[in-house]
Amino acid sequence: MRLRNVKNATEILNDSAYFAKEPSDIKGKWNEEFGDDQPIMLEIGMGKGDFLIGMAEAHPEWNFIGIEKYESVLVRAVQKLDELELKNVRVINIDAIDVHNIFDAEIDTIYLNFSDPWPKKRHYKRRLTYRDFLIEYDKIFKDNSKVEMKTDNDSLFESTLISLNDYGYKFDEVILDLWSTDKPNVKTEYEIKFSSKGYKIKYVRAHKNK
Ligand SMILES: C[S@@+](CC[C@H](N)C(=O)[O-])C[C@H]1O[C@@H](n2cnc3c(N)ncnc32)[C@H](O)[C@@H]1O
Repeated sequence: MRLRNVKNATEILNDSAYFAKEPSDIKGKWNEEFGDDQPIMLEIGMGKGDFLIGMAEAHPEWNFIGIEKYESVLVRAVQKLDELELKNVRVINIDAIDVHNIFDAEIDTIYLNFSDPWPKKRHYKRRLTYRDFLIEYDKIFKDNSKVEMKTDNDSLFESTLISLNDYGYKFDEVILDLWSTDKPNVKTEYEIKFSSKGYKIKYVRAHKNK
């Protein structure tokens, strides 16, 4: 997702209390940053923030950090956040492959929602559930590795299941049509978009013991 440049995007981000300007300075100290001992959940590829905000409102007992690689997208989330008073949210403008520079072993769960599918064979290593990313994620989990993923894309879903399985994850829940269940679900922008076009939403929750 790339958006046209928002005027003053950098300024809007830097002015927001939700935006972590120098996130590597907070490495190993994210609970201090939040001022509590609550579990820290990380959403990678948060886009315009609907899931992050919905989850933070639904779960004040957890802290939420969102990562987005495009400033022009992140600023949309920050504009929404600036209208709210949530003490359990921070957002960061980085690429997922760099998470080890920002976090020590302090993350409880990673959420991946509607990650870019990278359908071309030569691009499959860019998928956020490719082995190289799972290796990076392993470095930042506090206890066991825990991943939750939603997508409309069959090919990405299949490759995610294979990648997680090959890397030693065990599946706790696999759902092929999330919206047909009564599982509580905070919807994302892409989820609403693709579901309205008739795509079934796939969901997996998996863990790997330390
Ligand atoms: C298809 S959009 C989905 C956005 C949102 N999660 C949703 O479900 O509505 C994927 C988002 O992930 C971001 N993204 C893709 N690769 C990334 C990476 N390596 N690191 C951080 N963000 C990434 C993109 O910029 C984009 O905003």
